[in-house]
Amino acid sequence: MTTRPPKFYVTTPIYYVNDRPHIGHVYTTTVADIVARHHRLMGQDTFFLTGTDEHAAKIVDAAAERGIATQDWADQNAEQFLQTFNRLQMSNDDFIRTSQDRHKTKVTQYVERLLDTGDVYIGQYEGWYDAGQEEYIPENKAKEYEYKSPINGKPLVRKQEDNYFFRLSAYSDKLLLLLDKGDEFDVQPVARRNEVIARIRDGLNDVPISRTGAGQWGIPVPGDDTHMIYVWIDALFNYLSTIDTADRQKYWPADVHFIAKDILWFHAVIWPAMLMALDRPLPRLVYAHSFWISEGQKMSKSLGNFIDLEKIDHYVETFSLDALRYFLASSGPMGTTDADFAESKFIDVYNSDLANAFGNCFSRIANMTVKYFGGKVPVLGPHVDVSDQYTKSAEQCIARYTLAMDTYQLDKACQCAVELIGQIDGYIESTQPFKLAKDERNLPQVGTILYHCTEAIRIASLMFWPFMPGKVEQLWHRIGCDEYINALADRGRGDLASW
Ligand code: MSP
Repeated sequence: MTTRPPKFYVTTPIYYVNDRPHIGHVYTTTVADIVARHHRLMGQDTFFLTGTDEHAAKIVDAAAERGIATQDWADQNAEQFLQTFNRLQMSNDDFIRTSQDRHKTKVTQYVERLLDTGDVYIGQYEGWYDAGQEEYIPENKAKEYEYKSPINGKPLVRKQEDNYFFRLSAYSDKLLLLLDKGDEFDVQPVARRNEVIARIRDGLNDVPISRTGAGQWGIPVPGDDTHMIYVWIDALFNYLSTIDTADRQKYWPADVHFIAKDILWFHAVIWPAMLMALDRPLPRLVYAHSFWISEGQKMSKSLGNFIDLEKIDHYVETFSLDALRYFLASSGPMGTTDADFAESKFIDVYNSDLANAFGNCFSRIANMTVKYFGGKVPVLGPHVDVSDQYTKSAEQCIARYTLAMDTYQLDKACQCAVELIGQIDGYIESTQPFKLAKDERNLPQVGTILYHCTEAIRIASLMFWPFMPGKVEQLWHRIGCDEYINALADRGRGDLASW
């Protein structure tokens, strides 16, 4: 086995506080949570960050519409995200809010540095702006989009303002070189990386990084408080500001930034260029997943198919939090195709993988253990009739699983765990312990079979844990492995995963 780096740093986008959390936010955060749990299980000192993005102009507008102070509106909504992620038992190590002083101080320092190096300079912007996305759109793109937002269809706004600019154009060649090699900084999936490369080849303009007239909401440009730092620049810095302290610096660079395809440009182009300008190491990977749609259609409030907090809670109450996590991971839009959140699909996955495979297999083993051995896992009997092939294939399953987890193929990883369950079922079918047990003289052999089954399901449980920590911890309790919870936190999965 290759040795792993001692640390792992994983992030989610920070979410706008003008909206309540919905399935999109919950999904990316769940993916990051599963990945963080996997890396903790592999013994790595792991830092998992999520949070809220608060300095957007639309937040000022939404607060004004309601006649309340912007900070109060941001506080209320940030609280919703915090509470939702707590309720969904996300294991994030911190929750950054961009309106916090610890963030604002750092951003001021970063921009000061960029002004010093000349990577940020004052100029004038004239062009298009997507207000919903808070994004400046170059002329050729605006034309391609027919002057409408590709995300929400609203007309792009014509803007002319004095801005501070970031010298993005200077980083074009370096970015292309990096993306071509992919060993220092990478974008995945490959199709997304290719999109980014094609757009950089089209030519990079310097980008505005400040705005005037946004009131006092935001972080002023150092030395010029008539300008506020553009919300996207402020937001990207969260990944660094949160861990840019003496005790946390060891986590940089990030190992993976999980985002969706809507915000790829900022993460794959502007962010690494700014880091280069600051002379900081680049994140290892930006992984842009696709979107959830709902019941076959784009999610929309007017269609009533939005998977909002109420629906999320409904799934958790009806099927359990672990079932929701497992569905999101095994059926979600990692990769380049959108995924459909449909109730019928959810129920299929729940029945086939969770209830029938994992649940039934464990009940069978537990019931036989109770019936024939008074509930104690039997000792390995004299008739070791299990072939090496069986233990080997469990080990192969876990090796394939680990590779899938390390490369963020969560659906494949789920399949590996389910496959091992299938093998246990197959073993029970072929050895027929329930028939053997009819003759008492066979009990030592039955003991051996059940011992092997318990061992295999114990290993499967380690694979399921990042996805379904609650259910798996109940299982550990039932097979006398309570101490795993602490052992895993202390020293990771290590040799516990070998047969
Ligand atoms: N605040 C910016 C991100 C700044 S990061 C430095 C932002 N916020 S957002 O609230 O709009 O969240 C966007 C993210 O939410 C997406 O990148 C994705 O992670 C998630 N999703 C939102 N809708 C989604 C789907 N329908 N499906 C899957 N995930 C999506 O953009």
